[in-house]
Amino acid sequence: MAVPFERIQADFPVLAREVHGRPLVYLDNSATSQTPVPVRAAIDAYYAQSCANVHRGLHALSAEATDLYEGARDKVMRLVGAPGRESVVFTRGTTAAINLVASSWGECLQPGDAILITVAEHHANLIPWQQLAKRKGAELRHIPLTAEGTLDLSKLDELLTPNVKMVAFAQVSNVLGYVAPAAELIAAAKSVGAATLVDAAQSVGHMPVSFAELGCDFLAFSGHKMCGPTGIGCLIGRRELLDAMEPIEYGGDMIVHVDLQNATWNHPPYKFEAGTPPIAQAIGLGAACDYVTELGLDWIRDHTTALCDQAAAALSAIPGVRVHGPLTGRLGPVAFSIDGVHPHDVATLLDGEGVAVRAGHHCAQPLHGLLGAPSTARASFYVTNRASDIDRLVAAIGVVQKVFG
Ligand SMILES: Cc1ncc(COP(=O)(O)O)c(C=O)c1O
Repeated sequence: MAVPFERIQADFPVLAREVHGRPLVYLDNSATSQTPVPVRAAIDAYYAQSCANVHRGLHALSAEATDLYEGARDKVMRLVGAPGRESVVFTRGTTAAINLVASSWGECLQPGDAILITVAEHHANLIPWQQLAKRKGAELRHIPLTAEGTLDLSKLDELLTPNVKMVAFAQVSNVLGYVAPAAELIAAAKSVGAATLVDAAQSVGHMPVSFAELGCDFLAFSGHKMCGPTGIGCLIGRRELLDAMEPIEYGGDMIVHVDLQNATWNHPPYKFEAGTPPIAQAIGLGAACDYVTELGLDWIRDHTTALCDQAAAALSAIPGVRVHGPLTGRLGPVAFSIDGVHPHDVATLLDGEGVAVRAGHHCAQPLHGLLGAPSTARASFYVTNRASDIDRLVAAIGVVQKVFG
């Protein structure tokens, strides 16, 4: 069922603000989404009433903090269909989650093994594998793109040889906006015995995502792209793999017993949560899970896709404007170039009109090399947007084109 914009307006007071004397149109959601009142309230309630460290205290506030923190883990577990709470590891975000897998699980790689990713990955899902491949003498392979800017699986059989040990890909591209055929890729990876990691930074909280239904081994996402706070994300992992993995950080609750020479590790997820965890952030993420569930993940996906389709059509109809990637079916980001105008100038002039977009390589430099544009402008849509935002974007692009003649 459609969520009325009045509800969204009430939950996101920032939508009422002005920038540079113009009403704000926030189109930078793929970088960080706005934070609704219930998420901020959950964080504030922790700091106001239950602020204490978790797990270690025998007093009331610590018990409350622990309940809130562990309750957030249950909410994440339910949102992404994780097989159990021990499979839900809180991390700093997607980047930290993928680095954890590459550093720890990656120890099983041997010289001559291969890792398969795509040419469109965010640096967070590229560099950890690059470094692992260098460290282990493994090969890094890439799935190419079609001319339209979606994944080209026509050569998958050639790429997916039995020495491929990991297949890692973004479920939704942060530049091209396509939704990857995740089930197909995971099934193909399994057929050669490869492990799989889904970078779900742009998909969790944007569409229904189920770890169990996907059948992947690892799934990584960030709170701040799905109405949650910064500084928190998750690694969802298959229990057997998490059990077999070594921790990469030491201290705090990840320890069971320590003597002056040796230590033994706690079980997952605690084995991977060294030190005082981001308690308030995890509580905020739990509230964000509730929030997106209440809005409805089907509604969020349909609403966002409809806006992207509309935006891609409107932008590509403007002479001198080129949309990168598919014109339909995108989920969130719409990257574009304007002939003769540097994307930084585009973003600066749009900002002057009250329209917030991002410009740069969006942490996907190799992809931009393939697009033939060192950087692009990117408008990205989510629950806080509506069709009139596209009208404002189009009008502001008119201003940019006028300034640049
Ligand atoms: C597809 C993708 N992967 C990974 C990341 C990294 O997320 P974070 O910076 O929250 O760790 C992003 C962030 O933009 C992303 O879009």
